[in-house]
Amino acid sequence: MSTTQANKIEINKVATSKINQVDFDNLNFGSVFTDHLLECDFKNGEWQTPVIKPYAPFLLDPSARVFHYGQAIFEGMKAYKDEQDSIWLFRPDENFNRFNSSAVRMAMPEVPEEVFMNGLNELLKLDHEWIKKGLGNTLYIRPFLIATGEGVIANPSEDYKFMIILSPAKAYYSGEVKVLIAEHYSRAANGGIGAAKTAGNYAGQFYPTSLANKQGFQQIIWTDDATHTKLEEAGTMNVFFRINDTLFTAPVSERILDGVTRKSLIDMAKKEGLDIEVRPVLVSELVEASKNGSLKEIFGAGTAAVISPIAGFSYRDEYYELPKVSDSFAMILKEKLTNMQHKLIEDTYGWTVKV
Ligand code: COI
Repeated sequence: MSTTQANKIEINKVATSKINQVDFDNLNFGSVFTDHLLECDFKNGEWQTPVIKPYAPFLLDPSARVFHYGQAIFEGMKAYKDEQDSIWLFRPDENFNRFNSSAVRMAMPEVPEEVFMNGLNELLKLDHEWIKKGLGNTLYIRPFLIATGEGVIANPSEDYKFMIILSPAKAYYSGEVKVLIAEHYSRAANGGIGAAKTAGNYAGQFYPTSLANKQGFQQIIWTDDATHTKLEEAGTMNVFFRINDTLFTAPVSERILDGVTRKSLIDMAKKEGLDIEVRPVLVSELVEASKNGSLKEIFGAGTAAVISPIAGFSYRDEYYELPKVSDSFAMILKEKLTNMQHKLIEDTYGWTVKV
């Protein structure tokens, strides 16, 4: 074991990499992990020395709070390799800040910036061969924090484990995405945890989404819990709607995740001269726009999903198909965004950060 004194990270490397066993052309999202992970424990009220070590299962006490009360948060980020083999992150400060906002909401300790950022940078440098060049190739980064303290008393844990794992990834959705607009189930409520990236927000969607899957829909677009009239976000992404030549997306709130891709697209759309409005979008508007032909596009935006065009939506047992448009705003924005992330065009926003 060696220690990198500058940032106090212990590094324990694998004896043999498993990279040669991986088929990088056939990756199922989030199913293959790199050789190493970063781990940093919070004990006795203090963050311990971060450790980079071989990716492997680990032991927890069966009474650990994460299992009983779901004190767990995570982030989704990506690393990209440019043509010169440099590694880039996209707005990592946004993920770091959101991670710690989620931690505060879930009564967990905030992770220090040097643990998160230096730890991530060192891990990426060590597993750099897992980041492949070329548009569409990325390394998905999953930082997470779990409550490891023992005992089933319903109080916040005193001990925690922060980890970063890395997974080579291509597209999240491989085929067409059709969505169902939810009317009965809700993703989040005012005053709740909808804006936090916490495990339960995703677990709570699995059952309604599985019902939607059985009807042939890949995702649900959630509506507000109080009236079910406003379109909010989808399970793995924020949502944009194009009516005529204006893009609309819901404002973030206590119920809606402040997506990094979402906020980047809003800025990019403005700079590209596209008309964009951030305001609540009503289900009735969408149905009306679809009926009168002014609804041109719906697309999801997220780190994993990037920009995913939606082929159609169902509402109250009626299916509304989206038209095929030649000047797709989704495609214009996706091309700009991914080219910027891969450093194929200039980043005029200052969003890309070299590792
Ligand atoms: C991401 O886009 O990174 C997410 O966290 C969504 C995840 C549920 C796949």
